[in-house]
Amino acid sequence: MKGDTRKIVQMKKKGINDIDNEITIYKGLVGIYIDETLISYIDGVNGKLFYRGYSIEQLVENSTFEEVTYLLIYGNLPTKSQLDKFKELLIQERDLPDNILSILKSFPRKTTRIELLRTAISALSLYDPDDYDYSEEANIRKGIRIIAKIPTLIAFAHRIQTNQSFIEPSNDLSLAGNYYYMMTGKKPDKEFEDIFDKVLICHADHSINSSTLSCRVTVSTLSDIYSGITSAIGTLRGPLHGGANETIMNQLITEVKTSKNVIPWAKKRLENNLKIMGFGHRVYKTWDPRAIILRNLLKKIYKEAKNGELVEKISDTGHDHKNDDYSFEMIEILKDYMIETKGIYPNVDLYSAGLLHSLGIPIPLFTPLFAASRSTGWVAHAIEQLANNKLIRPRLKYVGELERKYIKISKR
Ligand SMILES: CC(C)(COP(=O)(O)OP(=O)(O)OC[C@H]1O[C@@H](n2cnc3c(N)ncnc32)[C@H](O)[C@@H]1OP(=O)(O)O)[C@@H](O)C(=O)NCCC(=O)NCCS
Repeated sequence: MKGDTRKIVQMKKKGINDIDNEITIYKGLVGIYIDETLISYIDGVNGKLFYRGYSIEQLVENSTFEEVTYLLIYGNLPTKSQLDKFKELLIQERDLPDNILSILKSFPRKTTRIELLRTAISALSLYDPDDYDYSEEANIRKGIRIIAKIPTLIAFAHRIQTNQSFIEPSNDLSLAGNYYYMMTGKKPDKEFEDIFDKVLICHADHSINSSTLSCRVTVSTLSDIYSGITSAIGTLRGPLHGGANETIMNQLITEVKTSKNVIPWAKKRLENNLKIMGFGHRVYKTWDPRAIILRNLLKKIYKEAKNGELVEKISDTGHDHKNDDYSFEMIEILKDYMIETKGIYPNVDLYSAGLLHSLGIPIPLFTPLFAASRSTGWVAHAIEQLANNKLIRPRLKYVGELERKYIKISKR
C-alpha cells in the first residue's frame, strides 16, 4: 500500500494529468446514473418496482408475460388485437434454424445451459433475415425473434444435454406454459402455468442492472442487438447476478440438506466472509418486491407439497421431496437469520430458486430461465439506448508507474 502511494506521488511530480486528487472513483459505479430511461423504475428505499409506470404487483396480478413484453418494448399496454397479433408473432418466430439445432447437438455434454444459450444466441445472429439492417424497425424485429426463440433454445439445449427427445411446443399453451412443457416434458395445469408466467414477469426488467448495462454498452458502440444480448447473457451468468439462484439451490441441496443445518451453515459462511447468494442488493435496502411476490407463491406451493398434492403435479427432477426438508422451510430459516443477524434482505433469486425447484424445473435451467425473461428488458434497453445513443465509455484512474525504462529481454 505504501509503495502505491509513493508511485502516485512520483507521478504527480512528473505532472501527469490524470493522477489527480480531484478524481472521484465510484467503484462498481455505485450510485451512478448513466442516462435517463422510460423503461423501469426501482425505489430501493421503499421496495417498489415499476415497468413503464405500472407497479410490478399490478402486472403480476393482471397481466401475462406476453403483454409485459409488449409493454416493455413499445411503452404502452396493447389493445386486444395488438396483443393477439404480437402473440401470433412470438409463435411464428419461436422455431430454430436447422443449423442452430446442429450446433446445439455438437456442443460438449455437461456444458452449463447458460453457456449453451450465450453461444447459441451469438450463432443465431448469422441466420437473422434482417441481416445487417440496423434500423429501429429491424432491431425490434430481431429483438422479438430473440425473445421468441430463447425458450426453444433453452429447452432443446437442455434436452440434448440430457439425452431426451425434443418436445415440440403446443398451440394450447402460453409462452410460459410452453416453455415449462418443452423443458420438463410435462404440460402444466392452469395454476402452474400462471405461476410460471408470474415468475417470468418478475424477471422481465430491472433498470440498469449489470447485464442490462453490458447490453447497453455493447449496442452503444453501434454494434448489433445480438451482440448486446450475448454480452448480457455472459454477464448474467455470474453468481453475483443471475447465477445466484442456481448457486443457492445447489448449496441448500448438497451442503445444507436439512433445516437444522441452515443456521450453522450460514454462520460459518459469514464468519469466513463468504456471501450467501439470494440476499442483498445494490439498490434495494429493504425487501425486494419481487421476492415478496415469489415468496407468497412459494408459500402456496409449499402447502400443496406438505399435503402431498405437489409431487403428483411436477415433473421428475430426481430430487426426492418425500424424505427431506422442503426448500421453503430452509429458505425461511435462512431469511430470518440473515435479516436478524445482518439486516440483509432476500432478493428475487432466493425465492425464484425455491419456487422453480418446487415447480420441478431442473436447477441448471434456473439462470437460463432468468435470461429468457430478462431478454425482454435487454431488447427494450437496446432500443432505448440506440434511439438517443451516446457511447458508454467511463474512465479508470491509473495508479501504476509511468515512464518505466524498457530493458531488452536479454538483460532482464
Ligand atoms: C447483490 C450484491 C452483489 C450487491 O452488492 P453491493 O451493492 O456491491 O454490496 P456489497 O457486496 O459491498 O455488500 C455490502 C455489505 O453487505 C454484505 N453483504 C451483501 N450481500 C451479502 C450476502 N448475500 N451475504 C453476506 N453478506 C452480504 C457485504 O459483505 C458487505 O459487508 P461489509 O460492508 O461488512 O463488507 C450483494 O448483495 C451480493 O453479493 N449478494 C449475493 C449475490 C446475489 O444474490 N445476487 C443477486 C442479486 S439480485
